[in-house]
Amino acid sequence: MKTLYEYIKEAEEKEVAIGHFNISNLEALHGIYNAARKLDLPIIIGLSEGEEDFIEREEAVALIRTIRERDNYPIFLNADHHYSFEKVKACIDAGFDTVIIDAVKLPFEENVALTKKCVDYASEINKKNRRAVLVEAELGFIGTSSKVLDKMPEGVSKETMTKPEDAKYFVEKTGINLLAPSVGNVHGMVKGGNPRLDIERIKEIKEAAGVPLVLHGGSGIADEDFVNAIKAGISVIHINTEIRVAYKEALEKYLKENPNEVAPYKILQPAVEAISKVVEARLKLFNNLK
Ligand code: 13P
Repeated sequence: MKTLYEYIKEAEEKEVAIGHFNISNLEALHGIYNAARKLDLPIIIGLSEGEEDFIEREEAVALIRTIRERDNYPIFLNADHHYSFEKVKACIDAGFDTVIIDAVKLPFEENVALTKKCVDYASEINKKNRRAVLVEAELGFIGTSSKVLDKMPEGVSKETMTKPEDAKYFVEKTGINLLAPSVGNVHGMVKGGNPRLDIERIKEIKEAAGVPLVLHGGSGIADEDFVNAIKAGISVIHINTEIRVAYKEALEKYLKENPNEVAPYKILQPAVEAISKVVEARLKLFNNLK
């Protein structure tokens, strides 16, 4: 099987994007995997620090590895937004395929230093254990929560968007494999509608950084923006809030309509299907499929 990096480079060449979806439980994993499998597309499963604490780090690795080996299927596991070297290291040691060190809250040079420390550790492990762990970092602020927001998150503005010259310097200094820029995207779905993406900025960052770009905060972004962002240089797209909302709404509906049902596998089936529907629609859009 190709490595995750090879799949990402292939997506870059074909001008499509690999979908990255977060999970907190087995139902979400099944919902996402069923959709990916139906379309026969590689997929990345993400765990934030909170999601990882809930699902358990080693158990998540075992689940993804089991599916990958059983079905010979390109499904990969990402440590999404991890905030310390210790957490990143724990995920690399546990067997994650890719990690994100998110140090955007630190002063710029401290972000560089911490990110470089993670890259050095991943390279050491890759050499020693013949692995191909990737390291991604974020530059510019896009908020933090995958939830439905009443208004734009505090601190996100044009000023906090990634500057192409910073992206170039950051990639050169740290050696990261993937960069997550701030280009008008925000984590979460804003009630009045998410802002539009700055497509020109994506092109400039891509040109300056020279590494594959990852678009975070995918929920609520307009279809047209996704299509243009992929053409401009986005190769991986993260979606979380949309699948959380689909899960919750399907669960609420089922419980309301079936107040006497107690079998979890029945109660949760519509939630699995609702997640699959969201993921399938997003993957079709990211891959120019009808
Ligand atoms: P959304 O919750 O906005 O989809 O963002 C998800 C994300 O970027 C996870 O890293």
